[in-house]
Amino acid sequence: MKKKILVTGGAGFIGGNFVQFMVNKYPEYEIFNLDLLTYAGDLTKHKDIELESNYHFIKADISDRKRITDLFEQEKFDYVVHFAAESHVDRSIINPEIFVITNILGTQVLLDAAKANNITKFVHVSTDEVYGELDFDPTTFFTENTPLQPNSPYSASKASSDFMVRAYYETFKLPVNITRCSNNYGPFHFPEKLIPLTISRVLNNQKVPIYGNGKNIRDWLHVLDHCAAIDLVLHKGVVGEVYNVGGHNERTNLEVVKTIINTLGKSEDLIEFVEDRLGHDKRYAIDPTKLENLGWKPTYTFETGIAQTIQWYLDNQEWWQQIISGEYQEYFEMQYSKKF
Ligand code: NAD
Ligand code: DAU
Repeated sequence: MKKKILVTGGAGFIGGNFVQFMVNKYPEYEIFNLDLLTYAGDLTKHKDIELESNYHFIKADISDRKRITDLFEQEKFDYVVHFAAESHVDRSIINPEIFVITNILGTQVLLDAAKANNITKFVHVSTDEVYGELDFDPTTFFTENTPLQPNSPYSASKASSDFMVRAYYETFKLPVNITRCSNNYGPFHFPEKLIPLTISRVLNNQKVPIYGNGKNIRDWLHVLDHCAAIDLVLHKGVVGEVYNVGGHNERTNLEVVKTIINTLGKSEDLIEFVEDRLGHDKRYAIDPTKLENLGWKPTYTFETGIAQTIQWYLDNQEWWQQIISGEYQEYFEMQYSKKF
């Protein structure tokens, strides 16, 4: 019998790339993409795999206990890779409650279902934001032993879910791993996040909002390097362990935006410094030694990855133009009208 892998959030950015990666790499697995299709989820990205016999889609809410319990009993999944979440920090500042429901309660519902069905491995996809922020000293990094000190409602909800995953390992011996990755970028990144927001606005000759002075630092990782890391942790990760994922690609936000503008041959006059994000974390930077020792190595530098990503957005304008012309406009108005 083929092994069954449940991927939650597989209609979103990273989960979507992971689903495609797994369907193509492992014909011997059956991949089940479970997603509620919130504003961040769309299935058009899967048109190349939707007819593959090892791909299945299930529309469901991870916080719907009955539905999730029934599904696990019915399908008897072997593995769970859990991406589904509310993922945008700015939205968590506007409305924290849905972050508590989806990210904490939803994770706990999945853990209960996994426990009741003796799954082989539960990989919880978390974030470096649970560690809080670093100062600008370039010799300091987040390790797996850095204490959790989340600063936004988003990162607090992710840290809470991490604690719940840890508790199910310690208390019930559920076979888990937690991965904590730095900022991803690449194909199908939803255009509310800095890189796709910048590419889409620059291509439309619109101003690009940079929060504060643009000196905040993020550690950028191409989404396919993240997918390879999760694949490795799923198969080789030591049960109960946490693995940080990042590729030493630190850039200030201003550097990132200028790189995109210059690659597209547009004017830096498009940059507009706007009111800062509340509680804006200064710097994230990952020490990936533990994962490297497991056998992971990123394949993209920031330079190769951002060039490929910009080209992807040029080649796939229909995908993102359709998103930004819909309900996204209401969000943009709410988030930015007082900033510009
Ligand atoms: P995303 O917002 O692009 O996608 C989230 C997906 O989850 C969407 O398809 C959405 O429909 C689905 N979803 C939301 N609520 C749901 C619910 N109640 N039930 C079922 N599905 C639901 O997010 P992303 O950027 O792809 O992030 C995926 C995961 O990776 C998240 O857990 C996030 O915390 C984590 N992460 C993201 C990054 C990053 O840079 N984007 C970095 C590290 C970790
Ligand atoms: O570090 C991992 C995290 O990376 C993930 O856990 C989150 O799900 C993901 O959204 C991302 O969080 P960030 O807050 O770092 O990403 P975002 O793209 O929103 O912002 C990146 C940086 O750019 C941050 O310093 C804020 C800044 N920014 C963002 C937006 C949307 C701007 O200056 N202007 C903007 O309009």
